[in-house]
Amino acid sequence: MCGIMGCVGKTDIRKIILNGLAQQEYRGYDSAGLALRCPDGVRNIKIVGRVCQLAKLVEERASDCEGAVSGIGHTRWATHGGVTVTNAHPHESCDGMVTLVHNGIIENAREIRAELVRNGVTFVTETDTESPCQLLAQIYDGDALTAMSELCGSLTGAFALVIMFRDRPGEIWCARRGSPLVVARADGASYCASDPTALLDYTHDLFFMEEGEMAFLTSDGCKFFGFDGAERAKTSIRLDWDSVMTDKGRYDHFMRKEIEEQPDVLRLTIDAHTVVTSVDMAKSLKISSDVLKKIRRVQFVACGTSHYATLAARDIMESLDCELDIMTEVASEYRYRNIARGGDTLAVFVSQSGETADTLAAMRLASSKGAHCVAITNVRGSTIDREVEHTLLSLAGPEIGVAATKTFTGQVGILALLVLHLLKELGALSTNDEARLIGGLRSLPAKLQSMLEREPEIEALARKYSDSKGFFFIGRRECVPLTMEGALKMKEIAYLPSEAYAAGEMKHGPIAMLDEKLTVVALVPEGDLREKTLSNVEECRARNAPIILIATEGDEDARSYANDVIFVPRTERELFTLIGLIPLQLFAYHTARTLGRDIDMPRNLAKSVTVE
Ligand code: G6P
Repeated sequence: MCGIMGCVGKTDIRKIILNGLAQQEYRGYDSAGLALRCPDGVRNIKIVGRVCQLAKLVEERASDCEGAVSGIGHTRWATHGGVTVTNAHPHESCDGMVTLVHNGIIENAREIRAELVRNGVTFVTETDTESPCQLLAQIYDGDALTAMSELCGSLTGAFALVIMFRDRPGEIWCARRGSPLVVARADGASYCASDPTALLDYTHDLFFMEEGEMAFLTSDGCKFFGFDGAERAKTSIRLDWDSVMTDKGRYDHFMRKEIEEQPDVLRLTIDAHTVVTSVDMAKSLKISSDVLKKIRRVQFVACGTSHYATLAARDIMESLDCELDIMTEVASEYRYRNIARGGDTLAVFVSQSGETADTLAAMRLASSKGAHCVAITNVRGSTIDREVEHTLLSLAGPEIGVAATKTFTGQVGILALLVLHLLKELGALSTNDEARLIGGLRSLPAKLQSMLEREPEIEALARKYSDSKGFFFIGRRECVPLTMEGALKMKEIAYLPSEAYAAGEMKHGPIAMLDEKLTVVALVPEGDLREKTLSNVEECRARNAPIILIATEGDEDARSYANDVIFVPRTERELFTLIGLIPLQLFAYHTARTLGRDIDMPRNLAKSVTVE
């Protein structure tokens, strides 16, 4: 949802901004721009297209950009106003006093615009962002702090704003409410960015701006203020990610690299929260035993892929036959349905980025109702991490590909362990089940590895079926979350119509769509539901749909039901998600590759959704 980069106090500011934008391009990539404060004024260069195209244009104009003392840049995911050069950021006020980039949505932009137009201000873009830009120029009379306070007080909606004033070279002003912004100091320079990964080349000590906070950046340092203008002391948070982790290395795509990293993610997760065959979360989760013992209701809330991870967690809980009242809901619905509860409720919010607007709002709601709230996030210092009562960090490392892969594995791993921890505290987990499932988890990284080695086979299938007009992913119970994730991956990166169905539901409508061009991918691991699922597969086959089965190694009989079979290693039934996922990810990846899609930055998407 738009990436921002700002820097003051370096000689190579233009490269720093371009580098920061390239690292945050997954946040939005329909247009990009940067403004450099040069000795004789501001250079504002914008394009429709990718950061690499912007970099080319900036290099062509390099001589024009010499001597910049500060700069701000932006990579856009359009919300208000089409994808045009004029609508691309940075925006400038009509008098040239203010240059500004924005991430978020200004909800009262229309009212501000109407009022300013009545007062003779000329607007040139269709964006909501131009309103704060023009308004700030009207308010500003030489006192930047007061003008910033007044601006922030006048805006409704979500914003991370980064601003340069024409008469204040060498200064950058920032404000944040609802959209993330991180500030850093290193070697006589100050930086700001939407995403901490863009700052790791300079430092690992980061200042995460809070809701309702402003910052003032110069080469001498950074100061922080509330929207009321009162200065605030702030301490940095250390982020232990390595900048090499944000490098594509030998892979063609981040997504492929991140798929490969999943055995390690799982290994790290298991090592962090288990001792031999016991779950051990006492150090990482600071909810007392007394509180956990009284929990009667568990609510899992998340969006997108993170939501599917919570469905897998629900299945594990149900399989262990606990008597808890369990609910999963997407955050955008949880907020508006009357289902948030307090008291004996444990509310678990899962967000890779920790910045998803709906998940944050849902967490605040549950917290206000008195639920015990836990966030599972991959980003230390993210908004959810700082606001929630308890955080569990998923240990996937930075994920750059827009389609989530390794973060899903990290989430399912940690959710499985959280479930075991809770049930153990409640006295609802037998020693046998605990040892069985932890043993099962421990055996998984090697199984994931062996699955990754079957890539050529899956790649060949992806090629064979890439002319399908669409896919149905079907399965029962523990496979249902996987059908959803498999279909989502296919939609996200291959743009092929893909549906996920509980296999028993196919005959209640969807089966009408089947013919020889609609491929069915059915998950049929061994176990009590294998036969029933295969009956549903037969129904699909009778309608001429090509069938790909994902079955357990050794289940040779599965071949007779399908055109093709992908075999996966045997695992505990509750943990099937973690192994069944790999062929689905690779299948979507290679289908998208065959179709020539932009895998790491699929059209219309953004990795971090900071608007509702
Ligand atoms: C976006 C991303 C998805 C992600 C979802 C939730 O839609 O493209 O990959 O699953 O947001 O994000 P979160 O950061 O809250 O897990």
